Amino acid sequence: MKVVLLGPPGAGKGTQATGIVERYNIVHISTGDIFRKNVKEGTPLGKQAKAYMDKGELVPDELVIALVQDRLKQDDCKDGYLLDGFPRTTFQAEAMEKLGMAVDKVIDIQVGKDVLVGRATGRRVCKKCGETYHVSFRPTKVEGVCDKCGAEVIQRSDDEEATVARRIDVYLSETAPLVDYYEKKGNIVHINGDDDAKVVQEKIFAALD
Ligand code: AP5
Ligand code: MG
Ligand code: ZN
Repeated sequence: MKVVLLGPPGAGKGTQATGIVERYNIVHISTGDIFRKNVKEGTPLGKQAKAYMDKGELVPDELVIALVQDRLKQDDCKDGYLLDGFPRTTFQAEAMEKLGMAVDKVIDIQVGKDVLVGRATGRRVCKKCGETYHVSFRPTKVEGVCDKCGAEVIQRSDDEEATVARRIDVYLSETAPLVDYYEKKGNIVHINGDDDAKVVQEKIFAALD
């Protein structure tokens, strides 16, 4: 199964991805996570991407496409994948098609703008294992400490309010047109992401089963 998770910043793509990849036994590919890893390791790709990410802008299409194309060639993708945060522009979606990267189903998680800002600014992530928390909706048992691995939980550098607002605007202008794009292909399902994360998960499973 080859699935694309579409949705604005803070919609819950990463949160939902964990359960989806477990249930369907597919690989989770988050372009944002790959970029953040490269930034942390100080690779040339990370250095290029950081400038855009810090401003809430998209990394240039050519860089992202090459990265995903490379990733999907790896063996673990043969039985399926979940793309989280890619494609994000019509150009990326068209490139996927041209390059033969298949998409069976697109899950579009819809959340109102006011909710999104609160979700992103309250998000905390584990420095070590990447587990995602929220100060109000999913707090760690011990403040500042990951439940899973005991490492420190921190705020993402692009989760400051002004940057979140910019990311939402970029989503609306660059990524939202993909809803129509996949609507025309007839393989998109819309999910209301305002509900509790567990309820959202059930709705996604119902759409994919
Ligand atoms: P990326 O990492 O993809 O960020 P994003 O799309 O902005 O999405 P987020 O990760 O912020 O949100 P999410 O939907 O995963 O929400 P989460 O589950 O964490 O991209 C970052 C940057 O990388 C981009 O800005 C760009 O620069 C670059 N980039 C990446 N891909 C690119 C591409 N293809 N092209 C070009 N550039 C690219 O949830 C958020 C919070 O809400 C958490 O705290 C969570 O606990 C909480 N939460 C989740 N669900 C619920 C719920 N139902 N109820 C209550 N709280 C909830
Ligand atoms: Mg995410
Ligand atoms: Zn952890």
